[in-house]
Amino acid sequence: MNLLFVASECTPFVKTGGLADVIGAVPKALEPLGVDVRILIPAYPAVGGLCVGASNVMSFDDLFGGPARVLAVQAEGLQMLLLDAPHLFDRKGNIYLGPDGQDWPDNDMRFAALSFAGAQIAIQGIGSWKPDVVNAHDWQAGLLPAYLQQHNGWTPPVVTTIHNIAFQGVFDATRLAALRLNADQFTTQGVEYYGKISFLKAGLALSEKITTVSPSYAAELMSADFGMGLDGLLRARQGDLHGILNGIDLDVWNPESDTALVANYSQRSLKGKASNREELEARFGLSKGEGPLFCVVSRMTSQKGLDLLLECIPDLVAQGGKLAVLGSGDPELERAYVDASNRYPDAIGTIIGYDEDLSHLMQGGSDAILIPSRFEPCGLTQLYGLRYGTLPVVARTGGLADTVIDANEAALLADCATGIQFAPITATMLSHAIARTCALFAKPKVWSGMMRRAMRHPVGWDLSASAYLDVYKAAQER
Ligand code: ADP
Ligand code: GLC
Repeated sequence: MNLLFVASECTPFVKTGGLADVIGAVPKALEPLGVDVRILIPAYPAVGGLCVGASNVMSFDDLFGGPARVLAVQAEGLQMLLLDAPHLFDRKGNIYLGPDGQDWPDNDMRFAALSFAGAQIAIQGIGSWKPDVVNAHDWQAGLLPAYLQQHNGWTPPVVTTIHNIAFQGVFDATRLAALRLNADQFTTQGVEYYGKISFLKAGLALSEKITTVSPSYAAELMSADFGMGLDGLLRARQGDLHGILNGIDLDVWNPESDTALVANYSQRSLKGKASNREELEARFGLSKGEGPLFCVVSRMTSQKGLDLLLECIPDLVAQGGKLAVLGSGDPELERAYVDASNRYPDAIGTIIGYDEDLSHLMQGGSDAILIPSRFEPCGLTQLYGLRYGTLPVVARTGGLADTVIDANEAALLADCATGIQFAPITATMLSHAIARTCALFAKPKVWSGMMRRAMRHPVGWDLSASAYLDVYKAAQER
């Protein structure tokens, strides 16, 4: 099977969050199943190096305001297609946001161009390679099936994957012609969404199949509380909606070989973890102590519930816990965490920024990772936590609920607990979960048993890659 992936980011070339990790990992897991995946992403400056030596496989005289081409190159075991459109993507800074911290004002044109180029590849192929199926990811690729709809003739089936329904790509209806959409596509069955244009809605309405990144999130999305206005559409399409759990790249995230750690370790020998903890305490200026070292590695947004954690800091410190925070995002949250570190310099450390290597060391050196998300389509940091024996303390929602087994009495007796869950998602219950974690940590035998179990928990892509393949095959039978 030939499969075209269309997405706005891909590890290890350009990443702002979990989407990139998934796009960089699934193709490797599909390859042994006989799937040949090509990945189309924009040629942002961050991927510029890849363009050198790449071959030009498609040209556009005018792609939404300027000339553009598609470059093909093999790198890091992935077959990349780069949309080189300097007028849209050759910009410094964040790939979605301008220097003012707001969305780039032409984000509609930028990602319509990505979807349009994806549709052209779907129709024409690249040389002798023609996709049998297209997998479009998130709102940035949402218009792809709308452009395919404009083509007279055969087009491959499209699967749209929802990584986060909070981002829908909603733009003014007056943009219809500029986005090269036809007036007859502005309907409730098409791109129209409450009088506006929604890229994600278009993808969900016009794709053969829809997937999202965990079974629980698939169910949640059909409720008004989580569907964010698209729950009705998803209920109507529930026969085509599949929740497939994310996995992680077991080569990139491996405590036995991770070069970002100061000492490697394994389930059989956990000793190295202590050296990583010491290094982490030094990096965050924390004192040595007996209690658990918690960490947070996260975008700082309201989704991630980090405002709830702020309220729990006095309790966490009072119980002898420590906390290392790596993240960036909402300036108010950034400030609040820096303030908390100033208030408790021995116990709380904050580094504002994005640092891939440090994120690995945090998984290697912490005892527990806190993820109090209000909603979480899947979440990857709890999976890294499991693999590194850094027990996840998670809100019971979406993929967090699907991947962590709470250390309740029954699970402890059955020897199957791998972390701590809490619900409802409030500061009080988070504080209670932190207290439960501290109590478990004080029982070294119970704790190390949980660590070993967590490290054995399957978090690779094997099962989910076959589930994706089944959905692609079902899409072909439309
Ligand atoms: P989301 O995609 O919603 O941000 P995920 O848990 O799926 O959440 O993925 C987040 C990814 O981004 C993980 O790989 C995590 O390690 C990484 N990450 C988040 N913040 C940072 C940061 N400040 N520095 C380095 N990596 C980060
Ligand atoms: C989104 C979600 C996150 C998920 C990631 C990859 O960013 O917020 O939960 O793990 O996509 O699918």
